[in-house]
Amino acid sequence: MVSQCKTAILISGSGTNLQAFIDAVGNGSLDLDLTVVFSNNPNAYGLERAERAGIATACIQHSDFLDRESFDCAVITELDRHQPDLLILAGFMRILSPTFVAHYSGKILNIHPALLPKYPGLNTHQRVLDAGDKWHGSTVHFVTEELDRGPRILQGRITVGPSETADELRDRVQTIEHHIYPLAAGWVGSGKVVFKNGQCWVDGEKSPEPSQVTL
Ligand code: GRF
Repeated sequence: MVSQCKTAILISGSGTNLQAFIDAVGNGSLDLDLTVVFSNNPNAYGLERAERAGIATACIQHSDFLDRESFDCAVITELDRHQPDLLILAGFMRILSPTFVAHYSGKILNIHPALLPKYPGLNTHQRVLDAGDKWHGSTVHFVTEELDRGPRILQGRITVGPSETADELRDRVQTIEHHIYPLAAGWVGSGKVVFKNGQCWVDGEKSPEPSQVTL
């Protein structure tokens, strides 16, 4: 991918990960063109963050559509006006249709608050505690049709404290996310990391296991 790749960020809520992207571009540590922030929720605080940073915003409410497919087609039409090279899902609380994923094949990234393949889906922090795991963290991955199962790019790991609560874990995992998500997106934006034949490639080599950072 080219430098200054046009990037759309999709949110539904607070947008702390979006803020991490805005800050990283602002301080020069990330070379992406944040072209548009899209939300399905008009009250998402992330929209205010985007406006404050001078980034174009767009909002389409899923509740205005009869089904997932027609909503996704409307989102595609809106996003394509900005011709994005890369889509960043940052707390976008919608399952994407196969049509959407195919339209942007290999160009969509997600961050999931668990060390995938463990704990796809919701309530990851409580599930980690219930299982007595010693390690937890977050994973940046390419999006494929299968929820939370696309090729993994980068994981941030933390140790679970002996008496830590799910809320405390969530806060620490989010701190890692703000570090690893812009980092991984920068790799994709520069072409260091690519999605090819359904797999993640790093510097021209197939990379079945994600890179890892431990904080
Ligand atoms: C993140 O914790 C991410 O793991 C999950 O959604 C959350 C979004 O948080 N996919 P924020 O809106 O970026 O604060």
